[in-house]
Amino acid sequence: MSYLINEQVKKLNTRDIRKYKLSQNLKPLQMLTCYDYQTAQILNETSLDMILVGDSLGNVILGYDTTVEVSIEEMLVFASAVKRGAPNKFVIADMPFGSYSTIREGLTNAKDLFQKSKAEAIKLEGAYDYQLDLIKRLTQIGIPVMGHIGLTPQSVHQQGGYYTHGKNKDSAQKLMQEALGLQDAGVFALVLECVEPILSQRITQTLQIPTIGIGSGRKTDGQVLVINDLLKMGKDAPPSFCEPIANFYQLKKGAIESYLDQAFYLGFNDERLFTHN
Ligand code: KIV
Repeated sequence: MSYLINEQVKKLNTRDIRKYKLSQNLKPLQMLTCYDYQTAQILNETSLDMILVGDSLGNVILGYDTTVEVSIEEMLVFASAVKRGAPNKFVIADMPFGSYSTIREGLTNAKDLFQKSKAEAIKLEGAYDYQLDLIKRLTQIGIPVMGHIGLTPQSVHQQGGYYTHGKNKDSAQKLMQEALGLQDAGVFALVLECVEPILSQRITQTLQIPTIGIGSGRKTDGQVLVINDLLKMGKDAPPSFCEPIANFYQLKKGAIESYLDQAFYLGFNDERLFTHN
């Protein structure tokens, strides 16, 4: 949905993102995760709509077992790096586990993350009553919030693993209510993670704000993927809903191996490689 102004991609804002719903766009809203300065510089030069500094960095960058281990201090380091690399993108920083267990904590931590990282918005998982109140308060003080329901990885132990949500009537009704509650509370967009595709389509048709799907079928307003999965940067296979477009793991490994071979046979004779002019 990116606009071109004088050959530059226009940086979106929450009004543009909300308006997307009315714009009959054929292209979905496109969001990718990002966690570092140099990758952010690349994304900054593309037509990507939004960047999410997800707490998935706990898994793919820090090697934690779950996102439960990620701290607010870590989110601040990575979100700030991404924002420095992508000044022209709308960046959303994830609130990590335990940083919004109460309204008071949520306000303090969200204000800190938003203000210090310079991200344009924050995201938080869940739709319990106190979370809806927190979202209302955050939007009142000027912090845009993206919602996130379905599979919410910070609650992996409570939810009992990673699986598709909304497959039965009760779960589907609950998700629809959560989506409407979040919309009323003021979120500008909503992530639907591993939500049964027909339900995610129904939620998308019902809401006035854009939905951003991951593992939830094609019929959402936008799509988000973890960039490390899309580029296959890790050793492990990405989730089944992500078809990698490259294999950076092999590419990097091959390049390093060929450097190790060549450096010994060729590079050692080349003085230029060892002096700085
Ligand atoms: O942390 C993350 O990367 C996310 C996306 C998977 C939506 O929350």
